[in-house]
Order: sequence, then structure tokens, then C-alpha cells
Amino acid sequence: MHVTHLSLADFRSYARAEVPLEPGVTAFVGPNGQGKTNLVEAVGYLATLGSHRVASDAPLVRMGAERAVVRAQVRQGDRQQLVELELNPGKANRARINRSSKVRPRDVLGIVRTVLFAPEDLALVKGDPGERRRFLDELITARSPRMAGVRSDYDRVLKQRNTLLKTAALARRHGGRSMDLSTLDVWDQHLARAGAELLAQRLDLVATMEPLADKAYEQLAPGGGPVALEYKPSAPGEGHTREELYDQLTAALAEARKQEIERGVTLVGPHRDDLVLKLGQLPAKGYASHGESWSYALALRLASYELLRAEGNEPVLVLDDVFAELDARRRERLAEMVAPGEQVLVTAAVDDDVPGVLTGTRYAVSDGTVERA
Ligand SMILES: Nc1ncnc2c1ncn2[C@@H]1O[C@H](COP(=O)(O)OP(=O)(O)O)[C@@H](O)[C@H]1O
Ligand SMILES: [Mg+2]
Repeated sequence: MHVTHLSLADFRSYARAEVPLEPGVTAFVGPNGQGKTNLVEAVGYLATLGSHRVASDAPLVRMGAERAVVRAQVRQGDRQQLVELELNPGKANRARINRSSKVRPRDVLGIVRTVLFAPEDLALVKGDPGERRRFLDELITARSPRMAGVRSDYDRVLKQRNTLLKTAALARRHGGRSMDLSTLDVWDQHLARAGAELLAQRLDLVATMEPLADKAYEQLAPGGGPVALEYKPSAPGEGHTREELYDQLTAALAEARKQEIERGVTLVGPHRDDLVLKLGQLPAKGYASHGESWSYALALRLASYELLRAEGNEPVLVLDDVFAELDARRRERLAEMVAPGEQVLVTAAVDDDVPGVLTGTRYAVSDGTVERA
């Protein structure tokens, strides 16, 4: 798929922006702080309902404005669709598809698909497990948009279960009457059900990704691998099917219950898992060099791209300011690998940062204006 037109209203630094787009490469070039990332962030938002830079929507709304609107005209084969999201921080966001407002924001998922490369990706390798969980879950949702519902069910159940555990922990500490814990059993079942579904998808994704990530790493940094992806669950076991994983989670929750009541928090489930990224025999986190970590992060993104493409609907590739971070060799390799993409959006501070093979449309971005260069 590709985006043929992007419109912004009160998004980040833009009061308004209208950007016609074509298939192939488009580069947004301009000095730092002029609004390049803001543009591609908007495209990413349509694909994930989130930003790759911030966890909440508030910073995405232009200072002084109440709401932001991101709209894109999207073409997939012969099909044209208009998708629109209205961001209302503190209130429910709204969505429209082909001007119909009878949809939830979550229904927009799957229309715009992106694989976004950004300097923030280094955190995939060096950062907390939460970064890697988010990476997996965003990709799961891109593969299968209905997983957005499972994710939000899981988050809701987890929150409610934690509230219950916190109350139980407080009651226990203050020597009050102990709580009736039968409600906890019900929450365990809900948590295990949504958790098992999420886990099954993560395990399948990791198994499918591993050879793709290994291949991408080899192309970026020949001889530097091999790369292996090891999913590290908080509820140990050999399960793979949803039923097996449900049983595994239920058993682990039962075992952890006493400790959970002491600490007042859910200690078992996909929200406590990690993905160990191995390079050779060692985990990349804590061992890999800066350059290796970068190659690893890029390899994960390239693998995501290969995966989504192989599964039918080619995503838009977004490369936000990544070339400046790479040495000349990896820069050329990455550029060659992404150049044939259906649509590639690149941002760079100067023309020289955009590799020669990525010729295409250029836009100059300056002080919130976007103009054909
Ligand atoms: N919510 C907002 N309201 C107004 N301006 C914003 C908002 N969020 C970010 N900005 C401004 O956008 C600019 C950064 O834009 P960005 O796209 O990240 O720049 P770059 O061209 O370097 O990628 C900064 O000047 C910042 O102050
Ligand atoms: Mg930027």
C-alpha cells in the first residue's frame, strides 16, 4: 500500500499541512527542529495509534490547540481509502473511514501499515524489556489488526487485577480482615485467556522473525552474526498452542499468588516477559558494541518489513534520520535494501545524508512549511 495524500491539522508544529505523496522514495530535507519527524510520526500514528517518540497523545496536539487531526488518502492496489483520526487528549479519540464516523479508532488499524526506522530504535536493543514487548505487539497488530482488541482486553484485566491485589496487600499489611479472594480467581481466568492469545501470537512471530532477522543482519554486517531471538516468558513452559499457554499461565498465577498478594502486583503474564536478542553466544544488551546494536535494531526493522511484505500488504517504509547515524558502508547497504519498496519516506538534515540510490521526490521542510524542492 502507499499513501497518496497526507493532511495534518494542529498536529505537532503544524497548524495545517497538505502533502501529496507518490509511490517510490520521498525525502523530507531540512535543518533540525523544522518539522520533518513530525510528518512521518503522523503516518506512523495512523498505522499504530501511537507515536514512536512519546507514550501519550498530548504532545502530538499543537501547543494551544484542543485537538489534532491526521488524515491520509491510501491506495492499495485498485482500492482507495480515506482514513482520519482526531486526537483528543484526555478524551476519546475519534476515527473516520471514507468519511463515515461509525468506526472506532482501532478499526483504522491495517489500512495504513508502516515499518518505521528511527534513532529511538537503539532502545530496542539497549533498552528495557518494555521496548521489545511493544515492538512485538505492534507487529502482531500489523499482522492481525484484531489483536488490538486482545491487547486492550489484556491491559484492562491487568489493571483491574492489580487494583484488587493492591487492596489485598494493603488489607494484609494493616492487619485488617483478609479479603475474599474468590474474585481473584475470575480475574486469573480472564488474564490467562487474553494472555495466552497474546503469547501464542508473540511466539509465532518470534519464530517467523528469527531467520529473517539473521538474514538482514548478515546483509548489513556480513560475518557479524549469527542472530538469535529467544522469547523469555515469565510463566515458564513448553506450550505453544493457546490451550497449552492458558494452562501454563493459570499454573504460574496459582504459584505466584502468595507473592502477588504480598507485593500487590501481577507478577506473571506477557507484560513481564522479555525477548532476548542474541548476537553469537551473547545477549546483545550489555555486550554488543554501539555499531552492532545499531545493526541489530535495523535488522529487526528490516525483518519486520520482509515479514509484512511476505504476508501480502507491503508497508510504507519510514526512515527517520537514520542515515546520519550509520557509517558509509551500512548506509549504502541499508539504502539498497529499502530502495525497491513500494513507498519509502526518508527524513534527513541535509541532502548529502540521503544515499544516491534513494532518488525520488524531495520536499524542503522549513519552519513548519513543506514545499517541493
Ligand atoms: N505539540 C507541539 N506544538 C507545537 N510545536 C511542537 C509540538 N511538538 C513539537 N513541536 C515542535 O516541533 C519541532 C520539532 O519537529 P521535528 O519534526 O521533531 O523536527 P525535525 O525536523 O528535526 O525532525 C520543535 O521545534 C518542537 O518545538
Ligand atoms: Mg527529526
